[in-house]
Amino acid sequence: MKLFTSLEFNSLEDLFIEQIEDLYDAEKRLTQALPKMAEASHSPDLRNAFQTHLRETEGHVVRLERIFQKLGRSPERETCEAMKGLIAEGEAMIGAKGDPNVKDAALIAAAQRVEHYEIAAYGTARTFARRLGREAIADELQETLDEEGNADKILTEIAEGVVNIKAHHA
Ligand SMILES: [Fe+2]
Ligand SMILES: [Fe+2]
Repeated sequence: MKLFTSLEFNSLEDLFIEQIEDLYDAEKRLTQALPKMAEASHSPDLRNAFQTHLRETEGHVVRLERIFQKLGRSPERETCEAMKGLIAEGEAMIGAKGDPNVKDAALIAAAQRVEHYEIAAYGTARTFARRLGREAIADELQETLDEEGNADKILTEIAEGVVNIKAHHA
């Protein structure tokens, strides 16, 4: 894994590759974290949403590997400090004591921070890819971006439709 200190940007392509390597690390970490989020869920809808997004996230890893291949590079991870922190917050929610419905709301709060981070990162990466004339790569990044947006929307629906209401009555 590369360190922050080794960064050097002489072109937009350098920066684009760094962004992809950061995302690759972030997605790999998420494939380890999402099963724990699913297991900690009290609501079956929430557990199902985490399990579905785990499968999508495994697809995001594969898609990034395909992008590395298209760039003629081997997949490399650059430690995503932000995702490490967001996952640590998620683990704090998993370990929290108290009412199971409030805990579900806490899991959603942590998970939506993750999704919004991914939405920001994929939006930037997609825009760089288009600028670099890498349309096929941009399309792949857009597909992942759409799935991140959809995951976020589903979490909102579960929060507003079920979990927050039950948490409020705790
Ligand atoms: Fe993802
Ligand atoms: Fe995601």
